[in-house]
Amino acid sequence: MAYMIIITLIISFVFFCCFFRNKNGLPTNWPLVGMLPALLINTHRINDFIIELMQNSDLNFHLKGPWFTNMNFLFTVDPTNINHVLSKKFENYVKGAKLNEILEPLGEGMFNTDSSLWRYHRNVAQSFFNHPKFHHFLVDVTWKKVKVYFHAALCEALRLYPPIASNLKTPTEPDILPSGHRVNPNIQIVFHAYAMGRMKSIWGDDCNEFKPERWISEQGMIKHEPSYKFSVFSSGPRICMGKQMVFTQMKIIAAIIIQNYHII
Ligand code: HEM
Repeated sequence: MAYMIIITLIISFVFFCCFFRNKNGLPTNWPLVGMLPALLINTHRINDFIIELMQNSDLNFHLKGPWFTNMNFLFTVDPTNINHVLSKKFENYVKGAKLNEILEPLGEGMFNTDSSLWRYHRNVAQSFFNHPKFHHFLVDVTWKKVKVYFHAALCEALRLYPPIASNLKTPTEPDILPSGHRVNPNIQIVFHAYAMGRMKSIWGDDCNEFKPERWISEQGMIKHEPSYKFSVFSSGPRICMGKQMVFTQMKIIAAIIIQNYHII
């Protein structure tokens, strides 16, 4: 008898879910469990799921977990929001207590700190990265060995396959994003670089195609995209310090592979 009741309850729950499911392709925020069912069903295809969320929600989506978990995320791939959080209102957004806990094994280095301690680390590292000798070395190595198309192909690979798929920020004070979303210290804002690289409204209808040409201007030069649109290296005062160096490294490695292997 007990089995019958359990089975009836499960079937009723499934029917209930199907009937009251959101028709706009977005997850339903169920009482108690929030959007957890949609997350669980899509765990095996999480990045594609986030792309769909972003497409169906006009680039911003508020994802809520079960009431007892404090899971409260604003997913955004909206360039105006990214510019707002990472540059214009930089001082108001930090990594936040939850992310600091995850990054704790890294100690109090540049990746894991905010405000004055981060500023100190950044200034020390910047004096090395900005040293004229280091800069000349990079420019020499890069431009003597490679052509524009090579650089464009790497940008295109990073757009479609960003090594850091997402990044988090938390506001220290309540704020309103350019999209109109209200945020407060209880929310984590997720910038999803993987989904952002695959948005038609940002990169055009051919956004899923590998097309290095999109990075080359009519004059045959590299077309620079603002970092809040091509956000693979983050944006604003905390933009990746190794951005230039990593392009040099990737070009050297690619040149060596092309020279030594027959690529089919
Ligand atoms: C393709 C390779 C790389 C990608 C996609 C990448 C991406 C990023 C991203 C997204 C951030 C922001 C992280 C955050 O806000 O928490 C970052 C920060 C940083 N990256 Fe990279 N990175 C790459 C390679 C490198 C390399 C090779 C170096 C050093 C030689 C480097 C040095 C740094 C540093 C020092 C920061 C911290 C900046 C700060 O917090 O002020 N990165 N990187």
